[in-house]
Amino acid sequence: MTRIKTAIFPVAGLGTRFLPTTKSVPKELLPVYDRPLIEYAVEEARLAGIERFVFVNSRNKSSLENHFRAAPALEANLAQKEKVTALQKVRRSILGEALEVVYQDAPLGLGHAVFCAREFVGNRPFAVILPDDFLMCEQPCLAQMIDAWSSVGGNMLATVDVGIPAISAYGCLSITGSDGRLISADALVEKPQPDQAPSTKAVIGRYILQPSVMKRLGQTKPGTGGEIQLTDAISADIKTSGLYGYEFEGQRFDCGQPAGLVEASVAVSRTRVNQVAVAA
Ligand code: G1P
Repeated sequence: MTRIKTAIFPVAGLGTRFLPTTKSVPKELLPVYDRPLIEYAVEEARLAGIERFVFVNSRNKSSLENHFRAAPALEANLAQKEKVTALQKVRRSILGEALEVVYQDAPLGLGHAVFCAREFVGNRPFAVILPDDFLMCEQPCLAQMIDAWSSVGGNMLATVDVGIPAISAYGCLSITGSDGRLISADALVEKPQPDQAPSTKAVIGRYILQPSVMKRLGQTKPGTGGEIQLTDAISADIKTSGLYGYEFEGQRFDCGQPAGLVEASVAVSRTRVNQVAVAA
């Protein structure tokens, strides 16, 4: 069975919706309750068996990379004071050699961001994770998808039913059939007008993609919004690889919006309270 070892994290965005905070703090380091948003996405990937974490970053967000590197002075200080829990929190996020960073020097779109990571993909399927989509699941979403993908292959995208009014903010699947949580699709449209949307199934930020999508990204012209769209490269690959949606088990929070970040924090705080109650 082909294993998915590499995940790409497009994190170069300016975080405009979170200004003024994001003037100097990367959006991905804002906390969901007690940990930075990006840590959850990295942890999800790790639990799904990912071994190489490729950040597509912008040059002025180096604190985001540093968060995943060792912090020798801080670690030594905490160790010397025997602050064991604090030390665990600091060490939990260290990725070491597993972290790779490439830079996206111009905001040319999600497809362009993914293409920036091509040197790490080669000829193996890979995952793309958008940390803004915060997913609370019993089994991590990417692991659920890899289980399903192992039987069908192709390109697989996590989907959520967002209803008609919201669909114009997402990639949207044209559905041909379904089997449990698995949806077969024959087309994918980026941000359709509600009256032209082929369904209400929106693509959210977890993708398992064939290396052929990377090749297609190299030939993809700017699309919706004048940006190079990942959606367009996946669409162009349908005849070669097929296309599936996966309606994961769990809850999604849109942490690309301040309200979503707050809602996710509240939801996580409840699980922490429950954990304490179970432990007590
Ligand atoms: C991107 C993708 C879109 C997808 C969405 C999920 O859009 O282009 O297809 O549905 O992420 O969050 P963005 O949110 O960057 O506009």
